[in-house]
Amino acid sequence: MDKLEVWGGKKLKGKVRLSGSKNAVLPIMAASLLTDEECHIENVPRLLDVHTMVKILEVLGKRVYFQEDSLTIKTRSNKSFVAPYKLVRTMRASFCVLGPLLAKRKRAKVSLPGGCVIGIRPVDLHMKGLEELGANIRISGGYCYASSSGLLGKEMFLGSPFGPSVLGTANIMMASTLASGETIIDFAACEPEVVDLAKVLKKMGADIQGEGTPQITVRGKKKLSGFKHRVIPDRIEAGTFIVFAIATGGSLVIEDISVSFLGAVIDALKNMGQHVQIKNGSICVKRHRKINPANITTLAFPGFPTDLQAQFMVLLSQAEGISTVTEKVYPDRFMHVPELNRMGAKINRFGSVAVVEGSRKFSHAEVMASDLRASACLVAAGLCASGKTIIHRLYHLDRGYENFISKLEQLGAQVRRGRE
Ligand code: EPZ
Repeated sequence: MDKLEVWGGKKLKGKVRLSGSKNAVLPIMAASLLTDEECHIENVPRLLDVHTMVKILEVLGKRVYFQEDSLTIKTRSNKSFVAPYKLVRTMRASFCVLGPLLAKRKRAKVSLPGGCVIGIRPVDLHMKGLEELGANIRISGGYCYASSSGLLGKEMFLGSPFGPSVLGTANIMMASTLASGETIIDFAACEPEVVDLAKVLKKMGADIQGEGTPQITVRGKKKLSGFKHRVIPDRIEAGTFIVFAIATGGSLVIEDISVSFLGAVIDALKNMGQHVQIKNGSICVKRHRKINPANITTLAFPGFPTDLQAQFMVLLSQAEGISTVTEKVYPDRFMHVPELNRMGAKINRFGSVAVVEGSRKFSHAEVMASDLRASACLVAAGLCASGKTIIHRLYHLDRGYENFISKLEQLGAQVRRGRE
């Protein structure tokens, strides 16, 4: 396993080129199971999670070619229908092969994804949605068995007490493209990644309306064609690097990303007194000496993204006053708090609310990464800590941030990757 050494005290300045969105490309790769025709995907980030999805598609009879930042997916065979535990357990997003597999091949056996450090992460909505479409669903031996002689469109409510489900919406939207009749998904997720998937499905010939709103309508088709698509940029990567720049007292320019992807984040930064400018399609941020305390609540899009909650705690720890962070999506997503406190933060958790004391100075420590976004938060703390911070279990970062080290170095950070 690798570790990351981070020398604090450098102001990060400059421009970062975003990679393609991890959370858009994974369901788009799964959409290739809806057709036997060739599919081309561009702006694909080279991430561990993408490589895992490639392996799953190959086990399911696809042949995948990965050149530069483009994927070509061809069909070798369309008979297999099992997504094995050894692959699915390493990446929860694998579960979004269930809907397309069932719709196209009439049956699927997909390992239930494990929980992870951010919460138990059930998949009951995915299975409820498929049952609404007429599928037979059975759970046995840690696998979800699904079968159907032909899915039937239906109106359904796909919400949980924690809001809509991003991958649940993706699974049902994909399955319904080959169902007969009309499907209406109420309380659908509105994330840009769901909209990007809908764009791909429409390129394949699907009839979809309402993507990006809480109600998506799909009129099923008999067959879908291949597609060519360029994946949207990664808004969570954008938000993460914005935190790196502000936390270290620097500045950052991010080009080629839609401002609407980061509305809640920009609003939070402005409330915290930070300089944010939108100039011809670019977002320019600059640290203002004084950070105002804030009360941040994570919500489904377009609310403040849960995937930036950990990173923002580093900024709130530097604010002049007391802030709160309320986690409405994953109430237990606070694994990063003890590690941040070991670096000098003073954060107290009361259930799904964390109280963050301000004016804290981070100091170096050896810390353990626990999940993708918690790791990024520890990097942010290390970048503004005195001394050298060592972050263990770097593979968490490799899952979701492409060329992470070189992007940091280009902004002036002093970091080094090492073997444990
Ligand atoms: C997606 O996960 C993202 N992953 C997550 O990003 C992100 O944090 C999450 O959406 C929320 O925005 C990918 O897109 C690959 P959900 P997903 O289903 O779809 C509950 C990252 O770091 N729920 O929208 O799995 C669930 O427990 C990752 O990139 C049910 O109750 O999340 C949670 O409280 C981490 N039943 C809420 O809904 C279900 O069947 C939102 O989960 C499904 C979800």
